[in-house]
Amino acid sequence: MNICAKNIEKEYMQGESRIIALRETSLEIAQEKFSVIVGPSGSGKSTLLRILGGLLYPTRGEVLYNDVSIYKLSAGKQALLRRKTIGYVFQDYGLLPTLTALENICTPVLMDNKKPDMEHILDLCDTLGIQERVHHIPGEMSGGEQQRVAVARALANNPEILFADEPTGNLDKKTANAMMESILSAQKKYKKTVVMVTHDESLAQKADFVFKLDNGCLMR
Ligand SMILES: Nc1ncnc2c1ncn2[C@@H]1O[C@H](COP(=O)(O)OP(=O)(O)OP(=O)(O)O)[C@@H](O)[C@H]1O
Ligand SMILES: [Mg+2]
Repeated sequence: MNICAKNIEKEYMQGESRIIALRETSLEIAQEKFSVIVGPSGSGKSTLLRILGGLLYPTRGEVLYNDVSIYKLSAGKQALLRRKTIGYVFQDYGLLPTLTALENICTPVLMDNKKPDMEHILDLCDTLGIQERVHHIPGEMSGGEQQRVAVARALANNPEILFADEPTGNLDKKTANAMMESILSAQKKYKKTVVMVTHDESLAQKADFVFKLDNGCLMR
């Protein structure tokens, strides 16, 4: 899947005032590569990721998946795209507290009325280093482990593209590095297109492509 953003802009209205979160941004995401979006807090990273990932309409411009403008698709087709093609990891993990890690990971597959491919899912847990934790509920896991479960859940449906918003955000340096290595090895092993937001420049160095945002502008 070829992803291309063309002249996207995003404005948020906060009461009477207009906040320009993203200015004239065009970029292409390389297939089966690891891209990161870096920049200071408030520079528009999450806004850009959400727009690329089909979760937020841009104010202007378009996002093309294989030349199809995704925000012009019907709501049903957009939902299908999010369910089949995209995996999304949110910064706050978003795990269901009463379900075990394995149940959390299987949730999107079950919601798609499919039978989970347990061989793939257990292999994923092994790659991400959470195989020993699959029967724990989130409250019995560390932040880093929960974040890996969120990554496994995003990959359970075998989507082509993984979007991850600061998956290392709340972790200490060592755990953040281990997390980055886990995502990198999953990306290589399963040949995924990964787009990750981080404010950690040292993690960004491990990526194939880096997009730098500053005050809503993409730096060249
Ligand atoms: N729903 C919203 N309504 C109004 N303003 C918003 C909204 N979401 C984000 N903003 C503003 O848009 C700008 C970009 O926000 P965004 O969340 O994309 O930044 P970010 O780079 O992800 O920051 P952080 O590193 O802190 O997560 C900020 O000024 C923010 O306050
Ligand atoms: Mg953010």
